[in-house]
Amino acid sequence: ANDNLIAPSILSADFARLGEEVNHVLAAGADIVHFDVMDNHYVPNLTIGPLVCEALRKHGVTAPIDVHLMVKPVDRIIPDFAAAGATYITFHPEASDHVDRSLQLIRDSGCKSGLVFNPATPLSYLEYVMDKVDMVLLMSVNPGFGGQKFIPATLDKLRQARRLIDESGLPIRLEIDGGVKVDNIRQIKEAGADTFVAGSAIFGAGRDEDANRYDSVIAAM
Ligand code: DX5
Ligand code: ZN
Repeated sequence: ANDNLIAPSILSADFARLGEEVNHVLAAGADIVHFDVMDNHYVPNLTIGPLVCEALRKHGVTAPIDVHLMVKPVDRIIPDFAAAGATYITFHPEASDHVDRSLQLIRDSGCKSGLVFNPATPLSYLEYVMDKVDMVLLMSVNPGFGGQKFIPATLDKLRQARRLIDESGLPIRLEIDGGVKVDNIRQIKEAGADTFVAGSAIFGAGRDEDANRYDSVIAAM
């Protein structure tokens, strides 16, 4: 029943022209901005923080910003992202000592909350906190880098997550992240996802000088 949302991951954007890149994918029909935060500790890579989120808001970006925290610890950075204009804040349960508290903190900060499941992380983390979650994000690659291959076992996990969400009757989005391409997105949709992160598939498209280079790939998704 949920509408489908396309969430370009700016991890694969040209960071030197980030505001322009984000405006281009939104103009091309993208729905939300996927914002990957890596700390060189929880994952072996280092990216962007609240300052960059705030800069996008100051640049005039009004679309929802979907902050995917790949950081440890989690709680300290939540209020900063809320103040910086985050819409969703999602985190990996293994990275928080108190998952329930972190979820509550996100909502108390005025944002929508979400849990992120690595390929080997069981969905059982949801069992007692379902009512505190606005988004379930399944990783279909191991987190840390763009451009990896979709792990096929995620399709079964998506079906399980879809069942859990439907049984709960709660308006929880089901997001998929990693290796999503034009040629596998139908299959992923059929397995139950309604929110699709795509980094390299979108930002890798077309030539730099073409302002409409993202139109066809986003239209095909
Ligand atoms: C990986 C990030 C993803 C990444 C996806 O840790 O969470 O959001 O940017 O990139 P693609 O779509 O290229 O697999
Ligand atoms: Zn991500």
